Amino acid sequence: MKFEVIKQDLNSKTDALIIGVFEGKALPTEAKQLDKTLNGAITKTYNEFKGEKKQVKVLTTMGKHNASKIYLLGLGKQDGFTLDSLRKAAAVAVKKARDDNCKHVSLTLTQVTVKGEKEMAKAQAVAEGIIMGLYDFNTFKTEREKIKTVNKVTIIAEDPRRAETGVLKGNILGESVNYTRDLVNLPANEVTPKYLAKQAEQLGKEHGFKVTIMGKDEMKKLGLNCILAVTKGSNEEPKLIVMEKKAKGKKMALVGKGITFDSGGLNIKTGKWMYDMKLDMGGAAAVLGTMKAVCELGMKVNLVGVIPTCENLTGGSAQKPGDIIKAYNGKTIEVGNTDAEGRLLLADAIPFTFDKYKPDSLIDLATLTGAIVMALGYQAAGLFGNDTNLKNKIKKAAETTQERVWELPMYEEYSDWVKSDFADVKNIQKAPQGYEAGSCTAAAFLESFVDGKWAHIDIAGTAFVYENSEYLHKGGTGYGVRLLTQLLSEWK
Ligand code: BES
Ligand code: ZN
Ligand code: ZN
Repeated sequence: MKFEVIKQDLNSKTDALIIGVFEGKALPTEAKQLDKTLNGAITKTYNEFKGEKKQVKVLTTMGKHNASKIYLLGLGKQDGFTLDSLRKAAAVAVKKARDDNCKHVSLTLTQVTVKGEKEMAKAQAVAEGIIMGLYDFNTFKTEREKIKTVNKVTIIAEDPRRAETGVLKGNILGESVNYTRDLVNLPANEVTPKYLAKQAEQLGKEHGFKVTIMGKDEMKKLGLNCILAVTKGSNEEPKLIVMEKKAKGKKMALVGKGITFDSGGLNIKTGKWMYDMKLDMGGAAAVLGTMKAVCELGMKVNLVGVIPTCENLTGGSAQKPGDIIKAYNGKTIEVGNTDAEGRLLLADAIPFTFDKYKPDSLIDLATLTGAIVMALGYQAAGLFGNDTNLKNKIKKAAETTQERVWELPMYEEYSDWVKSDFADVKNIQKAPQGYEAGSCTAAAFLESFVDGKWAHIDIAGTAFVYENSEYLHKGGTGYGVRLLTQLLSEWK
């Protein structure tokens, strides 16, 4: 799909010209202008639906205009209309045009009034909405030629130079999100630890950053016993991926959980709970997608991305409930449940990253607990951490990109619940029923392995969704890529 940005020209040739209209507001100038050519057809259509949110009305121009069809896109009320509303509106309209078989779509949406925002930011939001909205995971469909696609999008701008900059940025971010979605959507027989390592190597080669891949032997030498314990039931080799993008300034470390399939291990998942567990590398995919975005945007950031990755299966050598292992920082862990494997990976990867790469701050992203889905649904990720300033920066970035986070507490009592009778800590909790505040106790467990400024984002509910919405598609969401890139753009 190609973007083109042109100066205000409503009469250029296109399959669909999309014009946004607010509810209860006068038609925008461009619509009024077109209305003259079309003998009042626009006013008539507007009166039929009044610009209600998410509604799209299509007018055929019958050769009276260079656009074959005009799409009146309802934007809803102007009050409270934000960049995210614009992102969503762009996605809705372009998806509709695609479904109507339009190949070339033009829009004036970067000119819509969004309080406090200039055309560059609006153009970025529009491009993000379009790229994310048009996403479709069809890699495995054999009759792909039948799938409808948009080939060209023309942005009709007031200030094409600035709009172009916004479009370029939005395009990179949208594509990086889609890259992450692909990684999550690809099944576990494709996406193995080796596959993720290859992705990292490819990105490193393309963008000139250093990539180090460690296998079993190196991990043994380093004392990454928790990753080695989780991988024991699998025939795929585990990997520890490190990507270093060096620059001046404070170093940020991003650590992503990379379980390429989570069967639960010997505490095997039952019923429908295992089916989607290819998603359990959503944190790793977000770290890869962020590296890609940051590089393509030409951002100068001191960044290290770390991905511990393996499968959690049930082979004859699989770790067993009751096993005791020693993490990278020397603390001992009793494995109460082999399905709480994500925190085991992080128990090695977090102290390893602090120790070897000495970041100023570390953020981990992990599809860590089913409990976060119970608490917040698919609408927000759980945010935890030990540094208010870092958490505030994450909240601010999340507000901008609308990848929501909701902070949850790290009370001392939760730490008491993850103490073990036989080792330092246990990967499940001794709460009365065994599952209370499951996301908070997981975070409390992680805290034992933290040695610096740290935030933990539990993305079990946000990395993967089950319904299509404006710019999300069933399956991987790419959650975290825009959020982290935004955070890093303000990271000083
Ligand atoms: N990968 C799962 C968490 C998960 C659940 C992610 C649903 C996405 C959707 C994780 O490894 C897990 O199984 N956690 C257990 C922990 C429990 C055994 C303490 C859980 O949440 O049930
Ligand atoms: Zn698990
Ligand atoms: Zn898991």
